Parts: sequence; C-alpha cells; structure tokens
Amino acid sequence: MNPSVSPRNQNERVALVETNKSIVRKNRVKWKTLPAGAGRKQVDTLLSLGDNELLDFYNDSIRYWEKERGWEYDKYASQFSARSILEIGSGLGYDGITYSKSAECWTFCDIIPENIQLVRRIARLMDVSNVKYQTIEDFIHHDYGDQYNGFYAHGVLHHVPFEIAKKEVSNIDRYLTRGAKVVLLMYPYERWVLCGKPSFEEFGTMTDGEGTPWAEYYDDQKIKALFGDSYKLESSINWGHQNAEFVNFELIKLGKSDG
Ligand SMILES: C[S@@+](CC[C@H](N)C(=O)[O-])C[C@H]1O[C@@H](n2cnc3c(N)ncnc32)[C@H](O)[C@@H]1O
Repeated sequence: MNPSVSPRNQNERVALVETNKSIVRKNRVKWKTLPAGAGRKQVDTLLSLGDNELLDFYNDSIRYWEKERGWEYDKYASQFSARSILEIGSGLGYDGITYSKSAECWTFCDIIPENIQLVRRIARLMDVSNVKYQTIEDFIHHDYGDQYNGFYAHGVLHHVPFEIAKKEVSNIDRYLTRGAKVVLLMYPYERWVLCGKPSFEEFGTMTDGEGTPWAEYYDDQKIKALFGDSYKLESSINWGHQNAEFVNFELIKLGKSDG
C-alpha cells in the first residue's frame, strides 16, 4: 500500500497508520548505519574506536566531503553565518561540524541516540563548543525548546511518507523565526525517473541500500506543499551524478506581511 495515496475506508486508514509506523520503526534501525565518506559505517563500530582512531577516520571523511561538496560548504557557510541553526537527521554530523565554524550556534538532532552520542564526542575531540544536541523521540511533537533562524536537513525528510514529513515540518515551523533560512537536500524527481519510477519502498533500497524502508522524490511543487504558504522557495539546485543525485531546496520563512 502506498501511504501517499488517500485511504478510501476505515480498513485502509488503519493499514496506512500501521505502514507508517513500520516505516518509522525501520528508520530507527537502518540509520545506525550511515553515509561516511565513500562508504557507510555503523555508529556502534565508530563509538568503539579510540579517540585518535576516531578523529583520523572523521578527518578523512570530512576531506572526502569537502572534495565532493565544497561548493555547498562555501555557499551555506556564508548563508548560515551568525545564525542559530536547527538541524534534524544530523547522522554523523559532518555538515553541522563544518557549518558551526560560521554559525552562531548549531543544534544537532537525530532520532537515534547513538548518532547524537557520536557527534557529541567528535565535537568535544575537535574543540567545537557552539553546538547543542537533542534526541528526538516523537518527531511529530518534539519540543525543540528554542527559536532558530535557520533550519537544515540533509537526506532526511524524504525517508518518511509525505504526510508524515508534513506533520514533522508543521511542528518544526513553531520553532523557526520570520526570515529563517531553510536548506534541504532531497532526492529529485529526475533521480526517481532514472530509476524507472519504482515504488517508494523500492526507491529507498535503490538509493540507500537494504533495510531502507522509504525514499520519496521531491520537486518544486511538493516542497512548496510540504512547507506551505508561509515559506518562499528561493531556489532549487540539482547536482551530482547525471545532475540528479540531490536537489537542494533553499527557502525563507516569510512574515505575515511578506507574502
Ligand atoms: C541518510 S541519513 C543522513 C545523515 C546526515 N544528514 C548526512 O547527510 O550524512 C538520515 C538521518 O536522518 C535521521 N532520520 C531519519 N528519519 C528522520 C526523521 N523523520 N526525523 C529526523 N531524523 C530522521 C536518521 O537517524 C539519520 O541520521
């Protein structure tokens, strides 16, 4: 059953809720293995390393990402400059550790406590102090505890069905100030087409390997529907392999009179 399609009757609605719960459960297992440089690493394996070994591994991965995505780091480091940024799905934290050099404060949030534990240890080893951490238990109602003027999520919201992502974003919106910068990295429509328009369950396996419960494509129309009228889409940038690996959406939160 495709959770993006509106259910017709009570039985279908119950099945939909169960499917969505199962996707969330599977995400909590899958993302203990994370993108790390050219490959993937289990967070428990990384946590078992000694400090020097962990730092060597981490610095190698950062160098790898800088080669792949240096243009992004240059662009967003200045956009995030002196802002307080909320990141969800921070994984092993490479982007936040990099952007925290220019941000006022960076808050790492993830649904997996071990991922947060790892980033906390890395930040301590690297003497990065303008950072905070939160583990998200219930991402539809989580209390982010503060106001932020930036929001960042790389490869996160497309791993749940649109209707769940929409609820998660509605909750996050309560914590973003007018003028907040939003940067999201998603899988573009073109990547889904190149894969042969598979179901979103199959697309997840194709993009991120076995155990990935879901990956959904995004285009301009869908990202606008996800964020609603109080956000303006400023740009969408396709990049990577065949210009279809990721799309970066940049939005800004409008005030009531900006619309
Ligand atoms: C593909 S990994 C990306 C990690 C990191 N952003 C990066 O680019 O390397 C997805 C991350 O999002 C987290 N995650 C998955 N679903 C989430 C959700 N609905 N809300 C917040 N975090 C989520 C996972 O635990 C994982 O750390």
